[in-house]
Amino acid sequence: MHKGLFISVEGHDGSGKTTQINVLQSYLAEALNTLGLKSGVVTTRDPGGTEFSEEIRKILLNSDMCSWSELLLFAAARKQLETEVILPRIETGHIVISDRWFDSTYAYQAYGRELMSEVEEIMHVVKPIVPDFTFFLSLPLIDSMDRITLRNETADRFDHADLEFKTKVHNGFIEHMSKQDQRVLHIDATQSIEEVSVQIKQHVDEQIIPALKKRMQ
Ligand code: TYD
Repeated sequence: MHKGLFISVEGHDGSGKTTQINVLQSYLAEALNTLGLKSGVVTTRDPGGTEFSEEIRKILLNSDMCSWSELLLFAAARKQLETEVILPRIETGHIVISDRWFDSTYAYQAYGRELMSEVEEIMHVVKPIVPDFTFFLSLPLIDSMDRITLRNETADRFDHADLEFKTKVHNGFIEHMSKQDQRVLHIDATQSIEEVSVQIKQHVDEQIIPALKKRMQ
């Protein structure tokens, strides 16, 4: 077992993942410092996080392609990130937080593109690392769509997808996450930023720090 920890943050569009990843990173860094541990907290994103995976990300977010190519490119970007960044860091005791991981493939490709058996086969072959902890920030579809419309960023191919796809992804995410074990903490992202942060910090205190201490022994 690795010495560090791997944490993923998943969520519906507009659920505030980025804000909460920043909160999580600084809270964990502070906790490591208090414990006198020299290890650090690294954040990354899937797809992305390495030069190669960022190149794939650009293609994935901008070019039209068949669902199979999409699924395989997400798997390739993720494997590169795992090999180049995640495994070396957690093996040396660091904490890695990833903005999205394979649970997003279930939501978008298995449910959204209706490729469940293909996703399962790819997972079986590629065997991406299973996060030690996952935060899932969920929102009702209507709130998610409202928040996305208010965003200023340039929209990508997935943001432009039709309502049918978005609905399948949205409901699929909830269904997939409800089938996972205790690695996942479900958070109601309709709460204020502050309330969500409090819940995240509480989980860090109660579950994540004790797990890290155990590994460090
Ligand atoms: P990103 O900018 O990370 O999305 P957001 O800001 O909404 O979190 O873009 C990643 C997009 O890729 C997002 O729309 C979800 C999609 N995606 C998949 O379809 N499958 C996957 O396995 C992953 C990781 C992401």
